[in-house]
Amino acid sequence: MDKILILDFGSQTTQLIGRRIRDMGVYTEILPGDASLEGIIPAAGEGGDRFRGIILSGSPESVYSSAGAAPDKRVYHSGLPLLGICYGLQRMNFDNGGRVEPLPRREYGGVEVRIGPSAGNGGLRDGAANPLAPRFLAGFDPSLPLTAITAGTASADTGRGFTFTAWMSHGDTLTVLAPGFLEYGRSAAGFPAVVISGSKPWFGLQFHPEVTHSERGLEILAAFTFGVCQCKPGWTMEQYIEEVRRLLQERVGTNPALLLISGGVDSTVAGALLLKTLDPGQVHLMYMDTGLMRKDETRTVKAGLERLGARHLHIIHCEDEFLSALKGLTDPEAKRRAVGDLFITIQEREVARLGLPGSCFLVQGTLYTDLIESGKGVGKKARLIKSHHNVGSPLVEAKRKAGLVIEPLDRLYKDEVRRLGRLLALDEDVVRRHPFPGPGLAVRILGEVTREKCDILREADAVYIEELKRRRGPSGESLYDEIWQAFAALLPIRSVGVAGDIRKYGWVLVLRAITSSDGMTAGVYPFPAKDLLEISTLITNTVKDIGRVTYDISSKPPATIEWE
Ligand code: XMP
Repeated sequence: MDKILILDFGSQTTQLIGRRIRDMGVYTEILPGDASLEGIIPAAGEGGDRFRGIILSGSPESVYSSAGAAPDKRVYHSGLPLLGICYGLQRMNFDNGGRVEPLPRREYGGVEVRIGPSAGNGGLRDGAANPLAPRFLAGFDPSLPLTAITAGTASADTGRGFTFTAWMSHGDTLTVLAPGFLEYGRSAAGFPAVVISGSKPWFGLQFHPEVTHSERGLEILAAFTFGVCQCKPGWTMEQYIEEVRRLLQERVGTNPALLLISGGVDSTVAGALLLKTLDPGQVHLMYMDTGLMRKDETRTVKAGLERLGARHLHIIHCEDEFLSALKGLTDPEAKRRAVGDLFITIQEREVARLGLPGSCFLVQGTLYTDLIESGKGVGKKARLIKSHHNVGSPLVEAKRKAGLVIEPLDRLYKDEVRRLGRLLALDEDVVRRHPFPGPGLAVRILGEVTREKCDILREADAVYIEELKRRRGPSGESLYDEIWQAFAALLPIRSVGVAGDIRKYGWVLVLRAITSSDGMTAGVYPFPAKDLLEISTLITNTVKDIGRVTYDISSKPPATIEWE
């Protein structure tokens, strides 16, 4: 399979580059910007897998500061096509003898870029110097549709110049081009925006094509992937299923496999994969009902897994233990710790009780994004923890040491997991489900958690979510599908109200609804007022302990998505 390697220098949008290219059918892998590439390029991988090009991502750092990581020098000797994006371009220029200096004023947001003969010391007509330049510039040519570019043979009409809006965010610029580099595009303020090597298959953009605000962004990435690197699309979910099923069969063999199920999309998809690949008699699924779950969660999870053919479904009812552990706690961190610690204790106890042999595999629903530290941690590929289920768990650590952990979704993004779930015939309700935090309602009930408050919040949240699923949004989809994550939270205060002629003190409920692509940042969902008002009335009419409903209008940052 043809693949593109992305070197991550810490930009917020590195993940997006990967997703955009994968969505066009080409597999991408992200490695830390300064990772050693020995044996990775240009060596061919298993099954004929090979990298056909390398993208150097953006970064919050400067190439001339000590914090600005440099790639393995093999990148420049590999003979592979390179695409430098923002810092990636500055890096290529700097590492090859050019100069990079601070701009008098940052270029930020939508910037007009002109490409063409008058752009700088290069120009479209010089494309002949680098035979791949017209293929790359096809991405910029407004007369070429994406389908023509993904076919891999499109060339730009080099007789014309193009102007388009590109999204930029940089404080440094190329002041002296490296020997052999030519400027093909220039920003309205007069700084290099598109740079191409005259003799090597190297290309550079001072803007971010992966961001939707860049016109022709997708086409430019396609021109690099298909036109320059000549990748053939080979990344399909059907193929992934085949591959991962083969891997599971080979590694697990006839041994038992244990999966801890949370009820969310990832672990459910992992469960479905196991049940459809192994003999269901080998598959042990464990789910803890902590009492901090959404309404009807345990029943729905159980029914869903039984429909998938689960034979050993271990549902642990531990509501009382969790409520006792949370008794008297009001500090958010203390609450999180109490839930996390108890999770581990119960997990160890229950797994021991099952008496599974030492050869039992542990399967986890870890995603690709869980493995890669986003943003600042360049150079340190951290194995982040999926959820609090796994934090410091001795069971997970012991299994990992013994080579008995399998993470069948660890090459997938969230939206790919959803696609996989659909192919595995999971219920649409499960596939589209909003994320839910591991500590559950404990972080959505501010202050002390009690059984009574859990019941009130569960009820109010269910009314809210049901209404979101029932109502259409401006796009024609349900409000639930337009929103990335929605939930209700219960504040530790009562306010005055009237019910009939009687004064009543009801709890204050907060509704949250956000838009996001990965939960790292989030915007407030701009609710149609009518829906918000009607939902509020419905909640106060049906959940008698709620006296007042409010809507949280804070984005992330500065707020977080959850309240605790
Ligand atoms: P915050 O509140 O940090 O949430 O903006 C970002 C996303 O992560 C979810 N979240 C968690 N998920 N265990 C989880 O598995 C946790 O402890 C946890 N805390 C927050 C949150 O719901 C949102 O989707």
